[in-house]
Amino acid sequence: MCGIVGIISRKPVADRLVDALKRLEYRGYDSAGVATLENGRLTRRRAEGKLSNLATLVGEQQLDGTIGIGHTRWATHGVPSVANAHPHATKRLALVHNGIIENYRELKAELETEGAVFESQTDTEIVAHLVTRELERGLPPKEAVQVVLARLEGAFSLAFLFDGEEELLIGARRGSPLAVGEGEGEMFLGSDGIALSPFTDTVRYLEEGDLAVLEHGRITIFDQHGAEVTRAVKRAGGKAFYVDKGNHRHFMQKEIYEQPEVLSHTLGAFVDMTTGRTRLPKDQAIDFSKVRRIALSACGTGFYAALVGRYYFERYARIPCDLDVASEFRYRESPLADVDLALFVSQSGETADTLASLRYAKGEGLATAAIVNVEESTIAREADHVFPTLAGPEIGVASTKAFTCQLMALAALAIKAGVDRGVILPEREIEFTRILAEAPRLANEAIRLEGAIEALSRKMATKKHALFLGRGFSYPLALEGALKLKEISYIHAEGYAAGELKHGPIALIDETMPVVVIAPHDRSFEKTASNVQEVAARGGEIVLFTDAKGAASGIVDGAELIVLPDMPEILTPIVYAIPLQLLAYHTAIQMGTDVDQPRNLAKSVTVE
Ligand code: AGP
Repeated sequence: MCGIVGIISRKPVADRLVDALKRLEYRGYDSAGVATLENGRLTRRRAEGKLSNLATLVGEQQLDGTIGIGHTRWATHGVPSVANAHPHATKRLALVHNGIIENYRELKAELETEGAVFESQTDTEIVAHLVTRELERGLPPKEAVQVVLARLEGAFSLAFLFDGEEELLIGARRGSPLAVGEGEGEMFLGSDGIALSPFTDTVRYLEEGDLAVLEHGRITIFDQHGAEVTRAVKRAGGKAFYVDKGNHRHFMQKEIYEQPEVLSHTLGAFVDMTTGRTRLPKDQAIDFSKVRRIALSACGTGFYAALVGRYYFERYARIPCDLDVASEFRYRESPLADVDLALFVSQSGETADTLASLRYAKGEGLATAAIVNVEESTIAREADHVFPTLAGPEIGVASTKAFTCQLMALAALAIKAGVDRGVILPEREIEFTRILAEAPRLANEAIRLEGAIEALSRKMATKKHALFLGRGFSYPLALEGALKLKEISYIHAEGYAAGELKHGPIALIDETMPVVVIAPHDRSFEKTASNVQEVAARGGEIVLFTDAKGAASGIVDGAELIVLPDMPEILTPIVYAIPLQLLAYHTAIQMGTDVDQPRNLAKSVTVE
């Protein structure tokens, strides 16, 4: 993740920009920078490494400007360096960016044919050149930004400062959060409420596609259609922002909405977005060409992520995998023949069953690795190799963004393993990483189905039981979708391999049993279609999560359809998880349960 901040004031802003960035350091800290207008002229200070380096630089080379923007970086495109540090600039403007511009290669090539010269390896810099081009064509700043936003693909938030424009900041968001705040004669922009909390308690969270114009004395917000809109003010004391829900009712909804952003940052930990090649985070060194077999183990949602991981490793890297729920792994007394790596998946990194399994694997002399969301956790400390999911703090007990980030990490690791083993050639590797870079945008589109899913939840809330079916990559999602529903709405739900229905569970089917089927139009669609017809023939109510081709197949009249965008198969577990999360979330709201802290559960189960 990256942190962005902006201030328009009558007083010098540089020191407060740096202070705000310190509160955003949890979002990334491999380089940082600020830009202000000194006598109307754009001036930058940028430093590699921790934010303290920038603070020292700004202290040594003072900036007096009363308007500015700042950024703390978590590198995705381009190594940590001053040249790659934000703000990026042309002679007309400076900007800071959080997220991924998916189509930056094409846009960069277009600009280079017009003679543009780039000083960095980043995707961000192309936005500076594109907006400059529109300014030079005569468009005013807001319109120039709107024209460029329409050409960008991906999930991002942006803040702009214009040379000679002492009265104007512009912010925009698509898939990554951005908030604006009003102070005494000054206005603020920030990645979240944390950055703005010391300045103001009058914060508005921009919504999807919004653009904000900050001037002295007023903030004007425009929606994605260019219409002026108002956004609700969130008032809260400073400390409240440190665990704030933003403009969401529950942490679970906020964390579902954060997925486009955190998916892009998790991907950045495993892929050098400049070259498109996979890499292991930090100093990890595993040569998968020497890994004959992997033993996967986890609990709950982590286990369902590991089940997807098995499909990934076996399909793309041709590495056979064992898979156990952690509470069974060490009792099975598996011979562990040919197992060269034990891989554990855990959001908290503190789950007792998973930790005990890790220690068992180490006792058996296995090399161990852990995919964790809390890098200073016990499992992270005890595993030989640690692979981070950069989902940020996950407060809701029902795991959402951590799950999809676990899948992103597993997908990237499987591709890396395939490259190490020579089953994926470099050009195919780059094709895979470009596909993975589409996940934030597709996740954003899946989130936009919330309205249709909320309507579905009103019917689901009247049920006592539900079945979830999936095949292939969608089978683990059937299990995860059932877990999400039962753990927060308390409706009994079971996930099944679609092909298993006829071996018993079909006896449960009648008009009172809703059957949720996850079926993108992939290689197993036709087989799942016949399972769906078996359900329909017995009066079962069907909810079908599919794509346009699947919907057009008309596999069963009367099914409730939720149609997702088309996407390559490797992305389906990540993107199709989101409507399942939303279905569970809105059903639980209908049921009036405690969505963020369901009964009997804990965020981390630290007992066996
Ligand atoms: C998921 O929604 C549940 N809260 C639970 O199954 C959870 O995934 C499980 O307890 C494992 O937790 P961990 O990922 O922190 O190890």
